[in-house]
Amino acid sequence: MTDKNETKDAKELRDTAFAAMENAYAPYSRFRVGAAVRTRTGEVIAGCNVENAAYGEALCAERVAIAAAVARGMKEFEEIAIASESDDPAAPCGSCRQTMSEFAPDLKITSYSRNGKQVTWRLTDLLPEAFASNHLRGRM
Ligand code: THU
Repeated sequence: MTDKNETKDAKELRDTAFAAMENAYAPYSRFRVGAAVRTRTGEVIAGCNVENAAYGEALCAERVAIAAAVARGMKEFEEIAIASESDDPAAPCGSCRQTMSEFAPDLKITSYSRNGKQVTWRLTDLLPEAFASNHLRGRM
């Protein structure tokens, strides 16, 4: 349930994720998702899912938020909030976990449902033994 001790920062991230959810382009799944990342320098960058008539080209909210931050020169992330229309807080998909891991291997992830439930995870719990750049050594 909604945390009564929610910090101002957490509220800002949650509100930004829900606001981004309103911009989701999800005419095919009708499942709208918003995300907001906080960078090390304190900026908050939003993303939403962006679907396509070619279904497989759908972009997830989390990866859109991270890509938007990277495009603005920010690659260090403290925390991400995910907002969705699910009855239970939605866990990030595998591709999003891998993208998060590239920039923030132990990112704090909080997911919110539309009815006030929330869950917080650490990325290392959701994606243990992640493939990472160190595995490429000797091949680049
Ligand atoms: N989706 C996200 O935006 N984030 C996730 O972590 C899981 C799924 C989107 C993709 C698609 O537009 C819709 O939700 C249904 O899968």
